[in-house]
Amino acid sequence: MSTSQPEMSRRLGAAGRFNEWINHRFPLQKLMREHVTEYYASKNFNIWYGFGVLSMLVLVLMIVTGIFLTMSYKPSAAEAFSSVEYIMRDVEYGWLIRYMHSTGASAFFIVVYLHMFRALMYGSYKQPRELVWVLGMLIYVALMAEAFFGYMLPWGQMSYWGAQVIISLFGAIPVVGEPLVEWIRGDFYISDITLNRFFALHVIALPLVLVFLVALHIMALHEVGSNNPDGIEIKEKKDANGVPIDGVAFHPYHTSKDLVIIIGFLILFSAVVFFAPTGGGYFLEYANFEPADQLVTPEKIHPVWYFTPYYAILRAVPDKLGGVILMGAAVFVLFLLPWLDRCKVKSIRYRGWQYKVALATFTVSFVMLGWLGLMPATGIYLLLTQIFTLLYFAFFVFMPVYTRMEKTKPVPDRVVFHG
Ligand code: HEM
Repeated sequence: MSTSQPEMSRRLGAAGRFNEWINHRFPLQKLMREHVTEYYASKNFNIWYGFGVLSMLVLVLMIVTGIFLTMSYKPSAAEAFSSVEYIMRDVEYGWLIRYMHSTGASAFFIVVYLHMFRALMYGSYKQPRELVWVLGMLIYVALMAEAFFGYMLPWGQMSYWGAQVIISLFGAIPVVGEPLVEWIRGDFYISDITLNRFFALHVIALPLVLVFLVALHIMALHEVGSNNPDGIEIKEKKDANGVPIDGVAFHPYHTSKDLVIIIGFLILFSAVVFFAPTGGGYFLEYANFEPADQLVTPEKIHPVWYFTPYYAILRAVPDKLGGVILMGAAVFVLFLLPWLDRCKVKSIRYRGWQYKVALATFTVSFVMLGWLGLMPATGIYLLLTQIFTLLYFAFFVFMPVYTRMEKTKPVPDRVVFHG
């Protein structure tokens, strides 16, 4: 049935009046303008600029599927494992929700690692975006904690023994170590009490922290403006209306590009969820399909793939405390990146060979450490772990030196379009 013109105007009028009513009481239009329709971002964004929005998408997906899982999950040592089986077998579409959540955890780390790699390529952590980077790093640490607590919940063999290994690491701290471990567990061993508190942290505390940090991350980014693949500050060249000449409105120009990236991601994500939900034992480890047993240690204990680079670093030194310190340092040193890099040029497109070689070596080391973390820490594997750990740290330790020596190419005045 077609709507008559007067009727349409009447409806739009009501909508307009409602809009006005809202905007007198809440800055909706102002926020939309500042962050969406009049947020100008460089016109030369490439696919690397899609991983931020994908991280947001996965965060929402995890929260929504998590809410539905919580409706049927039982956070008790006696019932946790069987409640997950119940979700998989008896709850309507429970298997889909559970696999979306478990695959989502790996997808989250894939998109976040690529998002961070983009920052390393284009110097997005450099002045004036240091705080965007630091907030990103806080998100990363919170995300690791969130994933760790979540992995404990199915109460399978890996949940139990993985948690056992990680919690016992705190025991290496002199003097306070043992009491601290007991405090974290809330018991003399990993028990129902531990599972309960990890559940509380996983479903409410850390999601709140994550959402809050992501809001700060975006606010900080929108204050200084996005970087771009050329590493040029587009705000420095504005037209008569104060709009950056190389910028385009985030909506509709970037949102339409993002939509294509989102569709591509959802196709790949669905392929894994429907056809390979365990990810060959990397996304859901096979030992976790057996219920936790305090009396039987699994043959191999290692964390999920996204933690294995750090797990490898932990085992690179024979001393437990030394390993813990080194592992902590491997994460902490990333926070310092904006201050370690002394090169004036941001983008890898115009940087010297020194940084290109260093970044390539660092990336290979991180991937190799990820693989070595899954291998036994003996013989050739241990030697390789030690070599790649040294290379990992060399990237940061020598950064102030090699970034000062770089012979950079001239950076163009305006952004360049590479089709
Ligand atoms: C839940 C996790 C995260 C979400 C939802 C998120 C979201 C976003 C979004 C939407 C953008 C703008 C679009 C883009 O440039 O891709 C962005 C930019 C940025 N993010 Fe994240 N982010 C997350 C984690 C991280 C992490 C872990 C880091 C680094 C440690 C990081 C560092 C950055 C930087 C440096 C920028 C500015 C990039 C530029 O302008 O070139 N983010 N983030």
